Amino acid sequence: MYFFSTTVAAISFTFVFLLELATHSLANGTTNTTHRPRPQRQLSVDYYSKTCPQVDQLVASVTSQQFKEAPISGPATIRLFFHDCFVEPLVVVTIISYLATCPRAREMITTLIRHSPKLTPEPGKESGILCMNNGCDGSILISTKQGSKELAERDADDNKELAVEAFDSINKAKMLVESKCPGVVSCADILAIAARDFIHLAKGPYYQVKKGRWDGKISMATRVSPNLPRANSTLDDLIQLFKSKGLTLEDLVTLSGAHTIGFAHCKNFLARLYNYKNTMKPDPSIELRLLEALTMLCPRFGGNTDIVAPCDVTTPFLFDNAYYGNLESQLGVLASDQVLFLDPRTKPLVQALAKDKEKFFQDFAVAMDKMGSIGVKRGRRHGEKRIDCSMNEH
Ligand code: HEM
Repeated sequence: MYFFSTTVAAISFTFVFLLELATHSLANGTTNTTHRPRPQRQLSVDYYSKTCPQVDQLVASVTSQQFKEAPISGPATIRLFFHDCFVEPLVVVTIISYLATCPRAREMITTLIRHSPKLTPEPGKESGILCMNNGCDGSILISTKQGSKELAERDADDNKELAVEAFDSINKAKMLVESKCPGVVSCADILAIAARDFIHLAKGPYYQVKKGRWDGKISMATRVSPNLPRANSTLDDLIQLFKSKGLTLEDLVTLSGAHTIGFAHCKNFLARLYNYKNTMKPDPSIELRLLEALTMLCPRFGGNTDIVAPCDVTTPFLFDNAYYGNLESQLGVLASDQVLFLDPRTKPLVQALAKDKEKFFQDFAVAMDKMGSIGVKRGRRHGEKRIDCSMNEH
């Protein structure tokens, strides 16, 4: 149902809109700047060279099939990877038990005490610390346990729109990998590889994926919302959130380029069409023909909640840099995209990427590598290798 209605809506939207925009063209240039990658902790391209050397090919055989049968798997899996990496569970642990559950606790406690000596734990008193040690650890793939009151990440409101096809792709890839290399490859690594494959299948860059992530043992719906950006987040909020993950302003602009493929539900841009900042008017920064097309697609009240519009209205199925050219022409669908061109802090970055597809591809590969290393864990004490990605051992 989801696939049918979203696809039909998207294709008809695209057709009408592409006709209107037949003259819209994007220039190519050669501006070049470089990113400085954050040092990678322990991940490596050849991590499975002895234990499962064919892992990339195994995953590729599933992703290419999925791409043919259910193309929505592509953007959905890229977004799944992003949501996995950004969400960091916050766990309260006691000082005594901290090393088992929170490997960063010792460092965190030392820093805390250095800055606030009053917080030194008193002997005999239960002392709790908040531990944030997750990231790209496949925790988004875990299903809520039957009968459990505590929902897993994937059931959080912000993750409800993640298409089931993305989870299916990972599960299928995992089953195939398990049949050839049992108990070796983590779900988190399979997700990272699959996201790269789908980017390439949509004609985006191919880059080597570093591997060696272990799967997390904790998945909490309550940690999702504070760790994810929203379509109506301000640029300050976006910068702050990305910074908290070790990502720069450049990374923010580059990674937002993932919106060159995929779709957004009406509710994520409805306020821009009808009640921008409580003015009861449309956002003045939306190009008029786009505004018309979007309002036809998404009525103010009572519209079908499954309807979606492409995030990149000119080339929605191609992983290219047209997304940035769209922003220059006020054709951004999400407010959080359009703001990147409207704000002087990010405008020159958008312009540089709009001019130069190769630069976008290079920067994007580097930024995905950085994002893919957020909070990775290694070893049995901190993680596990799940056989079924949807079920953890705990
Ligand atoms: C910068 C902050 C970001 C915000 C505010 C944001 C927000 C959104 C929203 C609201 C949607 C529409 C979801 C729907 O209605 O179903 C979306 C879709 C998407 N996002 Fe983002 N996003 C951000 C960054 C990223 C990043 C960093 C990536 C990956 C590297 C990404 C990948 C995607 C993809 C591929 C889709 C399309 C999903 C699909 O078609 O199933 N986004 N995003």
